[in-house]
Amino acid sequence: MSAQNPFAARRMTAPQIAARKGGDPIVCLTAYTAPVAAILDEVCDLLLVGDSVGMVLHGMPNTVGVTVEMMILHGQAVMRASRKALVVVDMPFGSYEGARDAALANAVRILKETGAQAVKVESGPTVAETIAYLTRRGVPVMGHVGLRPQAVLTEGAFKAKGKRDGDYARVIAEARAAAAAGAFCVVVEGVAEALARQITAAIDVPTIGIGASAGCDGQILVTDDMLGLFDWTPKFVRRYADLRGEIDRAVGAYAEDVRERLFPGAAETYFTKAAE
Ligand code: KIV
Repeated sequence: MSAQNPFAARRMTAPQIAARKGGDPIVCLTAYTAPVAAILDEVCDLLLVGDSVGMVLHGMPNTVGVTVEMMILHGQAVMRASRKALVVVDMPFGSYEGARDAALANAVRILKETGAQAVKVESGPTVAETIAYLTRRGVPVMGHVGLRPQAVLTEGAFKAKGKRDGDYARVIAEARAAAAAGAFCVVVEGVAEALARQITAAIDVPTIGIGASAGCDGQILVTDDMLGLFDWTPKFVRRYADLRGEIDRAVGAYAEDVRERLFPGAAETYFTKAAE
């Protein structure tokens, strides 16, 4: 008899997420580090190791510079600290848009080296074929339509979709193509409510909204945004905490204590025991 991983059976699976279409809302957040993943794992159905890690943790101006190696490192940290949620790792810019075999090799590397159960790709017009190629070869894929951050260089900025009628047919077609190609769910980012509702009605796998209204089957936010770690957040983010304010307060108090020689005190100091 082979040894069994006692945790394996308890993790959410890609088919379980797919089966939630039209059911209870799917709760998702981004995670990049072990301590945060351990906290989020208690409440989330899905943790996304998003390539937003480049901007959020590494100070990059956009996600274009993120590498497969960075995604693997953060994916490993999230997998070590989580037990229940489905963990999805983003495929970074340049790792899946070219030859399908190269995309498969990168996806397999990410799954093998992190232990995560799925990858995400931004589903532009030419990516559906690659999604089909990956899913038929055992790689669960999450799609991503609407505002696609990896398209920032060609679009010139992060642009919401659906403010003009012209966007509708194209974005719905991209979502349909991703679902038909076998994506188990599709992130819908930065789209107007009416378009988000049309996408959700048009495909038979769950839509996961970010800046895409309540008309999606689930929601995701960048965790650091919703915790209030940044001065500025986009309109669609609700701040559930003010960690930036908390950190300012704590660091200020620490600096004052050090300057006043109030830290460390006796409670934080080692003493030599008297010789017997
Ligand atoms: O990289 C990321 O964090 C994402 C989410 C915004 C969905 O793709």
